[in-house]
Amino acid sequence: MAQMTERMMELFKKVPAIVLSTATEDGTPNAVPVGSKKIIDSETILLSDQFFNKTLANMKASPKVSVMYWEGQEGYQLKGTVTIETTGQRYEDTTRWIEDHGNKIGFPLKSKGAIILKIAEIYGVSPGPGAGKQLA
Ligand SMILES: Cc1cc2nc3c(=O)[nH]c(=O)nc-3n(C[C@H](O)[C@H](O)[C@H](O)COP(=O)(O)O)c2cc1C
Repeated sequence: MAQMTERMMELFKKVPAIVLSTATEDGTPNAVPVGSKKIIDSETILLSDQFFNKTLANMKASPKVSVMYWEGQEGYQLKGTVTIETTGQRYEDTTRWIEDHGNKIGFPLKSKGAIILKIAEIYGVSPGPGAGKQLA
């Protein structure tokens, strides 16, 4: 497992959305924005599935994903394996959180699943000499 630093976690929380990349079994890539995101701990994040379609099919077939986020010239890429929870405490907490969020923005939202990413590798994506370097 790889651990996010305080700074990586701070930026993850701050950005409005991250980019979640998955792939089909034969390697066709698919990248989508995801705004419903939380940090569970320094090596685990949670994403909520309201609308995943190709993304969900890809994760079921091949659970290795990449999450990328940035602000200005600073960015990080997290790679790891997801599990999809559709029952249990974490899923129930997620459904409440998403329903409340939907009520706040006046747009009904329902979580279909809590996507739990265990982070295996972290890379920097900031431009410059360290671009693409593995950080954890
Ligand atoms: C800014 C933004 C934030 C989004 N956040 C979420 C999200 O948190 N959860 C979700 O399921 N879909 C979210 N979506 C929708 C998905 O990105 C996308 O529409 C969905 O996964 C269908 O694409 P797919 O067939 O490639 O999976 C968001 C879209 C935008 C533009």
